[in-house]
Amino acid sequence: MNVIVTATTPFPDQKPGTSGLRKKVSVFQRPHYLENFVQSIFDSLEDYAGQTLVVGGDGRYYNRHAIQVILRMAAANGFGRVLVGRDGLLSTPAASCVIRKHGAFGGIILSASHNPAGPDGDFGIKYNTSNGGPAPEKITDAIHRRSLEIREYRTLDSDDINLSKTGHASLGDMDVEVIDPVADYAELMETLFDFDRIRALVGNGRFRLCFDAMHAITGPYAVEILGRRLGVPADALINVEPKEDFGGGHPDPNLVYAKQLVERLYRDDGPDFGAASDGDGDRNMILGRHCFVTPSDSLAVLAANARLMPGYRDGLAGIARSMPTSQAADRVAEKLGIELFETPTGWKFFGNLLDAGRATLCGEESFGTGSSHVREKDGLWAVLFWLDLLAARQLPVQEIVSRHWAEYGRNYYSRHDYEGVSADGAGELMARLRELTGSLAGKRYGDYEVALSDDFSYTDPIDHSVSERQGIRIVFTDGSRIVFRLSGTGTEGATLRVYLERYEPDPARQALDAQEALADLIGIAGEIARIRHHTGREAPTVIT
Ligand code: G1P
Ligand code: ZN
Repeated sequence: MNVIVTATTPFPDQKPGTSGLRKKVSVFQRPHYLENFVQSIFDSLEDYAGQTLVVGGDGRYYNRHAIQVILRMAAANGFGRVLVGRDGLLSTPAASCVIRKHGAFGGIILSASHNPAGPDGDFGIKYNTSNGGPAPEKITDAIHRRSLEIREYRTLDSDDINLSKTGHASLGDMDVEVIDPVADYAELMETLFDFDRIRALVGNGRFRLCFDAMHAITGPYAVEILGRRLGVPADALINVEPKEDFGGGHPDPNLVYAKQLVERLYRDDGPDFGAASDGDGDRNMILGRHCFVTPSDSLAVLAANARLMPGYRDGLAGIARSMPTSQAADRVAEKLGIELFETPTGWKFFGNLLDAGRATLCGEESFGTGSSHVREKDGLWAVLFWLDLLAARQLPVQEIVSRHWAEYGRNYYSRHDYEGVSADGAGELMARLRELTGSLAGKRYGDYEVALSDDFSYTDPIDHSVSERQGIRIVFTDGSRIVFRLSGTGTEGATLRVYLERYEPDPARQALDAQEALADLIGIAGEIARIRHHTGREAPTVIT
């Protein structure tokens, strides 16, 4: 094997964020930048000689180049085998599935999730461990430390591997197996849901749906699973051709960016069910005709109905949600008599709970839902769950949700994002809030009285690690909440996220528009945090 050791110098900015290292493509294109980070990953791992690594990405620009670099470096660093998706593709949940199924040592996933792609867009890289989940902070911190000291990296002098066909190739002493990116994942889905029941719904001649892959990774998954295995007609699957720049779009499945889908669902003759996933396939958005299911409500509804699904027939061990996610799922957990965990933002915090068998379903307000079947959130899984639920209950989406609210109460919920604001201003806003937290309890704002206010800190119940400063919570005496935190995934300036929640138990008052229902809290949030003053913005850029 022709190993080349290349001298390099550290980059000061390779600290992984909420979900790996994300930067502009142009940053990754700087000489040695990608190699430094990959070598820092390998240097932070132990005893992987001869082991299997899974590699794949969401197909965005730079994916193909990065995969070849990683393959060469994996061989030079002593991995025995790499499983790589055909054409370098693997959705994030499918990568997690493949790591688990094949007992891999870990995996490298190339994605910047829903961030725009293309030469001027973003790129990202993250490491997942043998459980299929994002590396815990202990490892990402080690990678970061290593990236600040790195002096050399190892690679091979070899040609690119042809990734367009499944099969085996050798790279130095390492075996490269090009795998079908969909097969393992599709097989897993068939064990969780009743495909016959879904097929009957889809083929009954009355039910219509629309799935939007947003020109990103879920296209091939939707074509195989929804189209070929479940019989969804081709014209119900839109934007299924993956593109390196995601067609110039912003593949974030929400009411703002999945406009084409939302418009279809709000037409009078619109389909009964609509769904979309994001750039790397881990997020989901669920719509019914003329209705949108918030991700927080979706988690609660899925939890309440889980026993109807073959894969969850025995019930749930527990439910985990990120702190800013609404408390709708808490009420379901209470009724089911199971544990509810409130974790910091980011899927990595669910890993320990899933591994320990304490939680079965997990969710984040940011269009992320998943379960113990893999260790990532999973967009298509959520879509299949909803389809199977519609097939089992034979009710429209809206009816399922309103019956859920009637039973459990409604948690009105919204998130307001101030994207790309000045990092200094946002930092000052958070610093001031942090100082205020001690003195807010007992204060009144209109009808609301502050019961508790703090900077959320989480002690992992399994490994007892502590994660501090995870967001400012202001909780009112009626359970309503305002949460403030700064995004850890943005690549430009800072993004302030404001999460608003109010509980309404009375079914007669559950049909308001969320922004209307939350109007008072929105005003209070602006007042307490002095949002306009610190951000210079009159209004949020994205409301979901
Ligand atoms: C965002 C979401 C968070 C999610 C992450 C990765 O992180 O808020 O829930 O886990 O993307 O998809 P943030 O930008 O808020 O740090
Ligand atoms: Zn994603």
